[in-house]
Amino acid sequence: MLESQLQALAASAQQRIDAAASPDALEAVRVEVLGRKGALAEVSKGMGKLTPTDRVRIGKLLNSTKTTLESALDARLKSFADAALAARLDAEWLDVTLPAPGTRPGALHPLTRIQQELEDLFTSMGVAVLDGPEVESEYNNFDALNIPPDHPARDMQDTFWLSSGQCLRTHTSPVQVRGMAKLGPPLLMIAPGRVFRNEEVDASHEHTFYQLEGMMVDRNVSIAHMLYFMRTLLKHIFNREVTVRLRPGYFPFVEPGFELDIQCLICNGSGCPVCKQSGWVELLPCGLVHPNVLRMGGIDPDRWGGFAFGLGLTRLVMMRYGIDDIRWLQSGDLRFLRQF
Ligand code: PHE
Repeated sequence: MLESQLQALAASAQQRIDAAASPDALEAVRVEVLGRKGALAEVSKGMGKLTPTDRVRIGKLLNSTKTTLESALDARLKSFADAALAARLDAEWLDVTLPAPGTRPGALHPLTRIQQELEDLFTSMGVAVLDGPEVESEYNNFDALNIPPDHPARDMQDTFWLSSGQCLRTHTSPVQVRGMAKLGPPLLMIAPGRVFRNEEVDASHEHTFYQLEGMMVDRNVSIAHMLYFMRTLLKHIFNREVTVRLRPGYFPFVEPGFELDIQCLICNGSGCPVCKQSGWVELLPCGLVHPNVLRMGGIDPDRWGGFAFGLGLTRLVMMRYGIDDIRWLQSGDLRFLRQF
């Protein structure tokens, strides 16, 4: 009687062990079957009523059932642990033979790159590279360039004024003034740098952009000299002849003054946002240095003459790389920067 009860108990316990879905479920089986108040303990209570021979036989059976179930529980528990470990190893698997993702070498910003290229070109031609401050005096930015306070040309550039009375330079032309004071005639200089205007920002206008000023003061300087320098510069940057046109242009510090336009290299002249649909991009305002500017720079205009140009470095970069929106340049956007 007890014998068949034990066998049925062992069989059902074994079934539950096999079917247990988790270590917790196994533990529940262990408590219910092998625990102090478990099913086996319950069976052993009936042992007292047995004859001594039966008691020995059933006692042995009880023990062996207990051992069998205990080892079945242990084995099943171990299989859970093994499966968990296997899953973890699988998830954390690392292919040490895989090449490392590689660090990208940094690159120069396109503006820096073109500025350096132009500095190299002009240095090789014996031209001095000068620098000036971004916070400039009103005098250097305007007055010394033949733009007196009441001159309507002050309205041509929307200026950021500082409470000190100084301004953020609106162009690199104040470095002309500094160059004349520093080097005296004859002089041949460029001055690349950052300039600021209170502009409405759009695809072709930024409040902060870059120019490259050029100035030559010597005896008998003519427009031919000026054109030579500007053509050399453009050819160097674009590596090919670029279609240009010269228009009269007004700047108080040059006389005569010109605008040199290049045919838009983004749309090849057919019209796009960068060239405002005109097919041409204003790139190189220039002219012969106004006698007043020479005079204020301490140079006798009867003995010396000169030319000056103010290249739009930012636009040049856009043309060379086919960038159709000026805002990319200062965006800091890695998708943009990684292309250079
Ligand atoms: N400084 C002028 C500007 O930014 C450009 C310029 C420079 C024109 C030199 C003529 C000569 O608008």
